[in-house]
Amino acid sequence: MDGDNEQNKYGTAAKNSLDSGLNNKAGEEYIDNLILAISRVSAAISGLIDLDATLNIGLDTTFEFMGGKAGGIMLLDEESDMLSYRVTRGFSDRYSEEMDMKLGEGIAGKVAQSGKVIMVDDISLEHDVARPDLVMLEGLKAFISVPLKAREKVLGVMNIASQKPRSFTKRDIYMCKSIGDQLGTAIEQAKLYKRLQRSKERYRQLAQRIIVAQEKERKKIARDLHDETSQILAGLALNLQALTEMSERLGIRDVQFKEILKKSHASTVQVHSEISRLIADLRPTQLDTLGIVAAIRQYVNSMVVARGIKAHFDLDAVEKHLLPEEELSLFRLVQGAVGNIIQHSEAKNVTISLKHQDDKLVVKVVDDGKGFQVEKLSELRKIGRGYGLLNMKERMTLIGATCSVQSQPGEGTTVRAVLPLSGKVSIKETKPQ
Ligand SMILES: Nc1ncnc2c1ncn2[C@@H]1O[C@H](COP(=O)(O)OP(=O)(O)OP(=O)(O)O)[C@@H](O)[C@H]1O
Ligand SMILES: [Mg+2]
Repeated sequence: MDGDNEQNKYGTAAKNSLDSGLNNKAGEEYIDNLILAISRVSAAISGLIDLDATLNIGLDTTFEFMGGKAGGIMLLDEESDMLSYRVTRGFSDRYSEEMDMKLGEGIAGKVAQSGKVIMVDDISLEHDVARPDLVMLEGLKAFISVPLKAREKVLGVMNIASQKPRSFTKRDIYMCKSIGDQLGTAIEQAKLYKRLQRSKERYRQLAQRIIVAQEKERKKIARDLHDETSQILAGLALNLQALTEMSERLGIRDVQFKEILKKSHASTVQVHSEISRLIADLRPTQLDTLGIVAAIRQYVNSMVVARGIKAHFDLDAVEKHLLPEEELSLFRLVQGAVGNIIQHSEAKNVTISLKHQDDKLVVKVVDDGKGFQVEKLSELRKIGRGYGLLNMKERMTLIGATCSVQSQPGEGTTVRAVLPLSGKVSIKETKPQ
């Protein structure tokens, strides 16, 4: 755009097209080039989530079309109402860094406020520029500032400048506005994307905090149960046992007395073992002492065998320890899946596998029960149920693993989790048990 002598990438044929009407070959060429430029920018927008890369393509395309030398894109900060350069070409570092302005201030500030294009033949002659010192230093003359809008809201401006005074043609304005509209959409998309990422991150942090709080609470309840209830029950069982032995020694023949004593002892032992199971459920200490493989085997056996379900294992040995939160989350996954099997499946067999595949640890809990329609889970959640599987998935996401559930009515259910190991554990094959 540096004067009439300048050749731009799209040739001089297009130069006066809009000014002189579009019913000639030059006009057609101009339209072709315009379409080319716009489609290039829109392809960049649809393919890139990196806003800077998109803005750079928009700016470069504008330069190529107009033959420009200097310019940049300023973004409007919604909170401070300040405009500052995000990408620039041909400006000094000082200009790019210091040329910030408030909404309504200077040329770009007015464009951002009004949403209308401003062009000046020679900016150095203007009175109300934001930083005349920087404009002088940069030697800027011709200047066009275009709003970047999305849904009528100005999100930034694109400025194209040159060191020679000149008048802008309609085609320059049309070109800048067309690209500006595309860039406005890109800025809006990037903002929405950033907002989405932020709320995802907030959700992740919240989920993590909930899980940490849940584990802490479980630990506390388990400790209280162990230190108080369980100890008392153990003592009570011993006392009842001692009473039974005493009654034998003393030759007490009262059948009813002996029966009540026996039942009391049996009930106490049963409640004690229920409490112990509950404690183990709340706080799987076997994880610390036995490691994940033995802890899984012990837990599953203790849960399913008594209920007439056969447990099968295909467990690789994890030689080095996973991170404690990884072990605990995988254990909780198995716990949740086994809990569902007991509660819902009517299965005869359950197979737990923990296998090392490539650089991943794959954990599977498979049952041969009645299965269910996975796609109906969201309906279940509407009535406040079905959060067990969702929690498992959340926990897996938090340790960087994925989790999937496969099921069909009559076809059993498979819960599968895949944890990338990235070289932190080595796994030795052991015989399936
Ligand atoms: N192994 C399974 N076999 C058959 N149905 C299952 C199995 N696992 C889950 N389901 C079905 O999926 C539903 C959702 O399971 P989920 O664990 O998410 O919630 P829930 O068990 O109903 O409640 P919660 O786990 O919160 O106590 C269950 O209600 C059940 O209908
Ligand atoms: Mg459940």
